[in-house]
Amino acid sequence: MNERDLADCLIHVAMQGEAQPMINALGLRHNGSLERAYPAQLWIGAAHAKSIALVTHGIDPTHQCDRLGTETAMLVAHLGIHRIKPRLLINAGTCGGFKSQGGAIGDVYLPTRFLFHDHRMPLPKFEGYAMGEITIADRPELRSAIGAKPGTCSTGSSLDATPDELAFFHRESVTCKDMEAASVANAARDSATQFIAVKVVTDIVEHREVVADEFLRNFARATAQLAMAVDRLLRTSIL
Ligand code: ADE
Repeated sequence: MNERDLADCLIHVAMQGEAQPMINALGLRHNGSLERAYPAQLWIGAAHAKSIALVTHGIDPTHQCDRLGTETAMLVAHLGIHRIKPRLLINAGTCGGFKSQGGAIGDVYLPTRFLFHDHRMPLPKFEGYAMGEITIADRPELRSAIGAKPGTCSTGSSLDATPDELAFFHRESVTCKDMEAASVANAARDSATQFIAVKVVTDIVEHREVVADEFLRNFARATAQLAMAVDRLLRTSIL
C-alpha cells in the first residue's frame, strides 16, 4: 500500500458520469486503478482542508458500461476502505424517489436507514439478515448545510421495480431506491468506518414512465446537484 493514498474521506460513486462533476468541482486527479487489473478507478486530492479519495466502479470490460450494482459496490467499498483507510466513507449517487413520500426530481437526501428490497430468505432469523437493515445517526446540521431530507434508502440489483418491491417500498416508507447504498453501508459497518450516503432523485419510482427515459433525461441536472451537495458537505466539520 502507498502511504500517500490515505485520506480523511473516501467518496464512493458507482458511475463515472455521476462522479465527473464531483471530480471537477473538487479538483481531484486520476490515480489509476483501485486495485491492480481491477476496473474500479481511484481519484485523489484535497479540498476544504481535508484529504479526499474518490472511487468509481469502473467500466465492465465485456459490456463496456459502468459496473453498477450491489456486488461491485460491496467489493469496491471493501477494497477502498482497506487501501484508503478513511475516517469517513460517503456513498454519493443518484436514486429513484417516491412522490407518495413527498419526493421530487432533484431532491437531495441524507438517509439514516438502509435496506435491501430484493433479498428474500423466509426462514427464522434469516429474514432480518436478508433485509440487511442498517441505521446511522441523523446529522441535522449536515442536512441543513446542503438542504437535504432524511429518509430510508433501499438497495437492489435492478433499475426497475416489481409489484412486490413496490409493496415493500410502501410498507417500509422508502424514500430512495438505489443499487449500492446498503452494500456500502454493510462494508462500512463491518470495518467500523463512519458512513453517510448522499442521494439525488433522477426518477420517480411510482411513475408509469419507463424508468430509463426519466433517469437519462434528469441525469445531468441530478449529478450537478450531487456534486454541489458533496462540495457543501465537505465544507462543514463533517469528520
Ligand atoms: N438510480 C437512479 N434511479 C434509480 C432507480 N430507479 N433504481 C435504482 N437505482 C437508481
